[in-house]
Amino acid sequence: MSVDETPLTTFPSFNSSSSQPIHILTSVPDVTFVPAIPLPNIPSFRENQPLLQRMESSSETYCNCNSFADDPEFTSIVKDAEFAIVNDVLPERIYQGSSGSYFVKNLDGVSIGVFKPKDEEPYGRLNPKWTKWMHKLCCPCCFGRSCLVPNQGYLSEAGASLVDQKLQLNIVPKTKVVRLTSETFNYSAIDRAKSRSKINLLQRFPNLHFNRIGLPPKVGSFQLFVDGYKDADFWLKKFESDPLPEDLQRQFQLQFERLVVLDYIIRNTDRGNDNWLIKYVKPDTSPRKENFVERKVEVKLVAIDNGLAFPFKHPDSWRAYPYYWAWLPIAKIPFSSETRDLVLPQLSDMNFVQDLCEELHDLFKADRGFDRNAFEKQMSVMRGQILNLTQALKDGKSPVQLVQMTPVIVERSKTGVRGRIRAINDSFTQTFQNKAPFFSWC
Ligand SMILES: Nc1ncnc2c1ncn2[C@@H]1O[C@H](COP(=O)(O)OP(=O)(O)O)[C@@H](O)[C@H]1O
Ligand SMILES: [Mg+2]
Repeated sequence: MSVDETPLTTFPSFNSSSSQPIHILTSVPDVTFVPAIPLPNIPSFRENQPLLQRMESSSETYCNCNSFADDPEFTSIVKDAEFAIVNDVLPERIYQGSSGSYFVKNLDGVSIGVFKPKDEEPYGRLNPKWTKWMHKLCCPCCFGRSCLVPNQGYLSEAGASLVDQKLQLNIVPKTKVVRLTSETFNYSAIDRAKSRSKINLLQRFPNLHFNRIGLPPKVGSFQLFVDGYKDADFWLKKFESDPLPEDLQRQFQLQFERLVVLDYIIRNTDRGNDNWLIKYVKPDTSPRKENFVERKVEVKLVAIDNGLAFPFKHPDSWRAYPYYWAWLPIAKIPFSSETRDLVLPQLSDMNFVQDLCEELHDLFKADRGFDRNAFEKQMSVMRGQILNLTQALKDGKSPVQLVQMTPVIVERSKTGVRGRIRAINDSFTQTFQNKAPFFSWC
């Protein structure tokens, strides 16, 4: 790929005359990884549950690494999941998935989350799909997406949620990084044997002390479960023959635009129409009976499966990883003033963008394989996407026109001071990818 370098004109650098105040961020990072500390006297409510099972799970499943001081509601949902696991209501593998993903339940067996362990991702060492494993073994050069940092899908999932929350898009079910243990996860034979022998030893020598008994916890993304939704594909086909009423069509369009904003910023490489979901509560046309309770008519949209985003370079060919929504007729409608008013003021503020990069840094740096250079490149792509998006919103473009814009990267100057305090000499360079992405209606 050849590139043209031009000095940045539209993306301002920080300077001493900037009207934006220079300030120090004090936000608490969402992710805190601390060693699993066994909690004594975990209650078990099932007398008939085997003792070994309790021994195995109690110390492992409860750990204070899943507490989010700034989000008690999320913390409580994860605690429910841990509690259910201790009591033998185990996560269930999602079989249609491309890697190890699990529906996580509460004590009543109701799905409350989707957990995707890092080591069961397509690049992970314990991916349960043998076809993926063969593919990786026999054809490593063609495996995965060369523009993505491998085996960090769980961070991409949590990162997408962070972007969603920060921009108040509210279309990604909240997703954070947690650690869970369950018999139903895919563990190596060695891990299982180790766990069994520790338990056998403990049975014979109860005074022995192990740092950990049972299976090791897995780090991964935990996304809140959304109820009553179906793949977008399903409803999009229905809407072709049975269009939405006008007011709902408007609701749908506004949320669709938010999906576009999210995908474009994070440069999602996997937004097929099976990776966003729609819930449609239709107007009730049946004759009204006596105890009739009117249901709330609504159409809602959520973006799931955000694990293949945040590339460190633009894909070489646009066609390789298109945004599938770009083929929908709705993508030809220019962005609404509502969407523009929501995101443009935030995205045009360099402090906001810098905050976003720093929050993503706090999230991504917890990974063992974190690489500062790769992360900087990911942020350069993201800043470029934000630059194009702000321009498209100012120019009143449509999503289709947005995806036709030439990809840009905006690199932070290597001399700029890094850290939480804004450097007055931070500067950015804008680089265009020479080949404009070719978009056509097929
Ligand atoms: N947050 C969620 N709430 C409800 N269902 C979900 C959620 N996330 C995923 N699913 C269901 O699980 C399926 C597979 O999830 P997905 O995230 O697409 O996994 P994969 O990476 O394996 O494709 C989806 O098609 C959807 O039906
Ligand atoms: Mg999927």
